[in-house]
Amino acid sequence: GKGTYPYYMLKEIDEQPAAIRRIIQEYQDDQGQLTIDSEIIAAMQASDRIYIIGAGTSMHAGLVGQALFEQLNGIPVEVHVASEFAYNMPLLTEKPFFIFLSQSGETADSRQVLVQVNELGYDSLTITNVKGSTLSREASYTLLLHVGPEIAVASTKAYTGQIAVMAVLADVLANAQGRKLDFDMETELSLVANAMETVVDDKDHLHEIATQIFTDVRNAFYIGRGLDYYVSCEAALKLKEISYIQTEGFAGGELKHGTISLIEDGTPVLAVISQKDTAAHTRGNLEETRARGANTVVITMEGMERQDDQIVIPAVHSLLAPLVTVVPTQLLAYYASLDRDLDVDKPRNLAKAVTVE
Ligand code: M6R
Repeated sequence: GKGTYPYYMLKEIDEQPAAIRRIIQEYQDDQGQLTIDSEIIAAMQASDRIYIIGAGTSMHAGLVGQALFEQLNGIPVEVHVASEFAYNMPLLTEKPFFIFLSQSGETADSRQVLVQVNELGYDSLTITNVKGSTLSREASYTLLLHVGPEIAVASTKAYTGQIAVMAVLADVLANAQGRKLDFDMETELSLVANAMETVVDDKDHLHEIATQIFTDVRNAFYIGRGLDYYVSCEAALKLKEISYIQTEGFAGGELKHGTISLIEDGTPVLAVISQKDTAAHTRGNLEETRARGANTVVITMEGMERQDDQIVIPAVHSLLAPLVTVVPTQLLAYYASLDRDLDVDKPRNLAKAVTVE
């Protein structure tokens, strides 16, 4: 049950630090080293490209996975929306490896792709929260999220769990490839869990910001670049899904190519800024919206913050920053929905598992 929580979503947001620690434990061997089934590692090592398939939030987690596998393993990755891939399959490389991301393991759009992948005879891995689910049974391999049941329609701990499991996978694969990483994944994931705890302890502050910027507005924007852009897409989905505020996640640099014409007095624009190489550019993009009346909010990391930044997360490894920067956006969405007296856990027109194509 949800215990003393008014909604499952809030409980599940709060469970994220423990979920990350659980993932570290579940994927540790007797010596305390991160470990993954050697068959999965061998299959990935033999592949020339990884195709990540998912829908909604799971697809957004895939975008972060792409950065992890490309940067830590040097394997090219493509991320695809399942419903598109199923009927517009791109040209595949010679040795593709498929990763299906699905909290429920029952998403029909993703399953439709898996059926085709099996017909073509390619190896696949399902990363899911549900043991014995359809996508798990039908794929060559499965890795479980171990984050506990997710009840709220809005996915939170499954997103961070999927990224954490892919981080472990990328780390073990890098070891097998003989690629020496300049950081210890286990240590960095523990730091992520601690940083998440700081964010979930900051609820009152985040509620205040949500009330300030989202009351009576009809649309909103999240912007970022690179990994921060991927988090912006997820943040926008979460906000629109449960508050019904029309929200777009945008690549900071793209705004000026059209969308900035939508900015009016009071339009909320939230920037995710955790990557050093693009921080100045995103700040510039945000400033352009502020000059046109936007109500701006910065979500950034310690060591990169400026005086008036409203949301500053503790410093974590830059590749893992999405695991932490997403948490305040989950809470902002939660409070926006709560302030509007909506049913946070059951937004209209939506089901937890979408079993039709
Ligand atoms: O169970 P899955 O991860 O396959 O579900 C995919 C999407 O339906 C899901 O992530 C959806 O986008 C969420 N409601 C978003 O919060």
